[in-house]
Amino acid sequence: MRQPLIAGNWKMNGNLASTRALLDAVSAQAETVAQSVEVAVLPPCVYVPETSTRLANTSVRWGAQNLSEHASGAYTGEIAAAMLTDFGCHYVVVGHSERRALYGETNTLVAAKFAAAQAHHIQPILCVGETLDERDQGVTLTVVTQQLEAVIQHSGVEALQRAVIAYEPVWAIGTGRTATPEQAQEVHAYIRSMIAEYDATIANSVRILYGGSVKGNNASALFAMADIDGGLVGGASLDSAEFSAIIQAAL
Ligand code: PGA
Repeated sequence: MRQPLIAGNWKMNGNLASTRALLDAVSAQAETVAQSVEVAVLPPCVYVPETSTRLANTSVRWGAQNLSEHASGAYTGEIAAAMLTDFGCHYVVVGHSERRALYGETNTLVAAKFAAAQAHHIQPILCVGETLDERDQGVTLTVVTQQLEAVIQHSGVEALQRAVIAYEPVWAIGTGRTATPEQAQEVHAYIRSMIAEYDATIANSVRILYGGSVKGNNASALFAMADIDGGLVGGASLDSAEFSAIIQAAL
């Protein structure tokens, strides 16, 4: 039985005051569903300490949106996994399409970041997904395979027992254009079958989230699909009422 996870990726939004207000609202909402739905937030890094203080005695988990592949050293501007551990981060996003597209992160780098997180007992939320061009060319499953294989080859399939996968079609992120539940399910089922070729038990237990314009009004249909285990939510996670509706849809 896979417990649904709803994770809010706040990206580079908000300020200290709005972060505090959102944290308080989300923790209140999460209490009402704590037995059945896991809720997590991924604030900008500078707000992680505030997040760890405010969510300390709640059921909400938190994490970061990025980390360095290195353990420490002369890497100006980077954040190491051990630093995230100091502030109780349970999760870290790796391989988000914005980082792949805007900051040149390759499958190899993403695999190294995945391993760096796990070395410090932080669960990576590994994002995979195709661009619109790739979908139109019919190579969606090839792209997703390459993104996942890079991690499996680097860390072994067992590593997926301590990770979450998020399928995020790039054309659906921040565009208001959601994948249909059937389009998403097709890729989720494919990801699970691909992992099953290595290990059926791991394939059956790994959570695969959908991300890309998840909203209160489309979440139920997505979460009703057999292989969709929750959502990685961007824009809608900044609005506490909308995020609450998405959490309720996972019940
Ligand atoms: P979106 O972002 O919900 O705003 O489309 C999702 C994500 O990038 O994780």
